[in-house]
Amino acid sequence: MTDITISRRAALMGAGAIVAWASSPARALLAEADPQALPARIEAIVQRMTLEEKAGQLQLNAAAWSGGIATGLNPPSNGPSFEGQVADAVAGKLTGVFNGNGAEMARRMQDAVMRQSRLKIPLIFAADVIHGHRTIFPVPVAEAASFDPDLAMRTARMAAYEAAAAGIDWTFFPMVDIARDQRWGRTMEGAGEDPLLGQLFAAARVKGFQGRTLADADAVMACVKHFAAYGAAESGLDYNSVDLSERTLREVYLPPYKAGFDAGAMSGMASFNEINGIPSHGNPWLLRKVLRDEWRFPGFIVGDYTGDEEMIAAGFAKDGKDAARIALLAGVDMSMQSNLYAQHLPALVREGAVPQAVLDESVRRVLAVKHQLGLFDDPFRRIDTKRETARSRTKPALALSREAAQKAMVLLKNDGDLLPLAPSRRIALIGPFASGQHDLNGPWVVYGDNNQAIDLATGVKAAGARNVSVTPGSGVEEPLAGGIDAAVAAARAADVVVLAIGESETMSGEAQSRTAITVPAPQMALAEAVAATGKPIVVLLKNGRGLALEGAVKDAPAILVTWFLGSETGHAIADVLFGKVGPSGRLPLSFPHESGQEPYYYAHKATGRPAPDGPRQPYKAQWRTSPNAALYPFGHGLTYGKVSYAAPVVPATLPWDGRIEVAATVTNSGTRPCEELVQLYIRDRVASITRPVREMKAFRKVALAPGKSERVAFTLTREQLQFLGKDLQPTVEPGTFDVWIAPSAQADGVHGTFDLVRLGVRSGRS
Ligand code: NOJ
Repeated sequence: MTDITISRRAALMGAGAIVAWASSPARALLAEADPQALPARIEAIVQRMTLEEKAGQLQLNAAAWSGGIATGLNPPSNGPSFEGQVADAVAGKLTGVFNGNGAEMARRMQDAVMRQSRLKIPLIFAADVIHGHRTIFPVPVAEAASFDPDLAMRTARMAAYEAAAAGIDWTFFPMVDIARDQRWGRTMEGAGEDPLLGQLFAAARVKGFQGRTLADADAVMACVKHFAAYGAAESGLDYNSVDLSERTLREVYLPPYKAGFDAGAMSGMASFNEINGIPSHGNPWLLRKVLRDEWRFPGFIVGDYTGDEEMIAAGFAKDGKDAARIALLAGVDMSMQSNLYAQHLPALVREGAVPQAVLDESVRRVLAVKHQLGLFDDPFRRIDTKRETARSRTKPALALSREAAQKAMVLLKNDGDLLPLAPSRRIALIGPFASGQHDLNGPWVVYGDNNQAIDLATGVKAAGARNVSVTPGSGVEEPLAGGIDAAVAAARAADVVVLAIGESETMSGEAQSRTAITVPAPQMALAEAVAATGKPIVVLLKNGRGLALEGAVKDAPAILVTWFLGSETGHAIADVLFGKVGPSGRLPLSFPHESGQEPYYYAHKATGRPAPDGPRQPYKAQWRTSPNAALYPFGHGLTYGKVSYAAPVVPATLPWDGRIEVAATVTNSGTRPCEELVQLYIRDRVASITRPVREMKAFRKVALAPGKSERVAFTLTREQLQFLGKDLQPTVEPGTFDVWIAPSAQADGVHGTFDLVRLGVRSGRS
């Protein structure tokens, strides 16, 4: 980051507000107290607050300015006018607002609170900065396809840099929900199906947003969401119930949240779903026992949008007052949007239904975080209209967006080395995503503008392709009159077809669950007609989830997953299409053979009747029409090189307190350089709790020039072989382990076995 000029707040807030703040009770109390003794400083403010002001500190609402952008991304609310909201803030009925409209709005609200409110406790401004603020990066699952947590840290840092200048103190990100059912539309917001990848990306994103210290003017507080297991919704239906064993919850779903909190995230968001009959907003086991007692989380938990109120419809709370009581007692420190806390907490405390100590504890947490964000020292530190403009869509930000997009694409198939294309070829760009300012940024964008993003046709032409025709051929979910005829004619007149098809940005994301995760029928009809011309086809898939590919799309010689890539979509796709950069992304989720396999994930159990390799056998765990496998597995992705795996080195034994090095040699025998993602998987053959058929334990990207080999070694210790035993405590058992160093979760790569041995203990296993 180059420009980290600190806010010139005097220019913004006006002398009056500074004077008001400087002489405010909150400021005075903070100044008097020992700066090291945070609880005492906070305590002094808490002691002065009325019950109404305390409840207000725990109430966050959507910004009302211009109707509020938040309502475009959430169910519409009948919030107050902006003036009404400012009055509420001044009266101490609000802790802050979210998804507001930039620095000017924040300045006006903060200014009013600092001048006119009784205690002058600064507001906090939150927003859904999910994959970029004004510069839009690939959707999070696409970025996870880079298998490069450092990249995620860099894009998060850049997003924070842009957002912080616009007055945003707090982002509702990272979303770290494991997604093993591709019908679930919010797959696009996370890091896919694997707990290890999930943990690495969760930590990287938190660190990126929060930077060195929360008090920095360009640090934005992270919010680990949605706690917990939101992605395990039955049948992939968003908001649906989750029924999950504590074992799977702890082994698969919880680790990414923990990684995010361990990385320093000072807030978390409760999830909409219930787990085993208990909504997360009313689950003290989750929010107090696991989060506070076990994990020692010091920050605060915000409810999701009306999530507390939704316990009424779920049949867990009688009415709004009951819902507020249940949520606060369970450990939801702050209510979002329902206004239930502001409305009911004072009465609940007065009636003795909620102990004042519980209320005070949540207030302390919120004030402590506002303090850490530096808001008590300078409530305007992130509010700077000039900086907001200066930092918007800078050259380095757009270059980073292009780099991230290049690294996110996954080449599923490249028969006959159809890719890369020579720009001199006659290219027919066909499909609803061939051109136009739509569906470039992807879902969950509050501040980015598709009109500023680079579409495919623009990118392809800018890369030097001169003979390019552009034909939509079809709408996304509706046919286009005459579209197929025009597309067929265009294909006939070209050497190669680049078919840009898939999902629109409204087909994935929140509430966009699908039953069939296929390319929509009108686009399939287009693909079939174009394929019938016999011209070679490069399919560019636009998608926010794993898809089940069919027909002409599945059979196309080349398939490139392009997700939603953000601001630099067209340039980045052209870079890979024409070979300026090679594809290096890998699937962070499985592409099944058929929709009906969902939920499908690579780390499944073997069952007692696993289907053998080779010819199909009856009475085995397989579908009538598909194997118990992915069409394109987790970790899969081709490069423009030709990589082979050889020379496995797997020592026979891993001593209990020792370590071993397992290694393979990877060789690029192709004619182009490539970046190969070398993955390490293990399987515990026999254990007291059945273990997955494979678990990823490590991965490494290696750059391989044509004709070059590299020995890639990983260290394994006992800790990596740990699982939860019968008592749900971490355990490791001696015995035989398979190990693969491979290019995907389904590829053989190289394979070996070793025994974990404890002196004096006979494994008695396999
Ligand atoms: C609901 C979503 O579940 C959550 O992820 C988001 O942060 C809030 N709405 C606020 O927009």
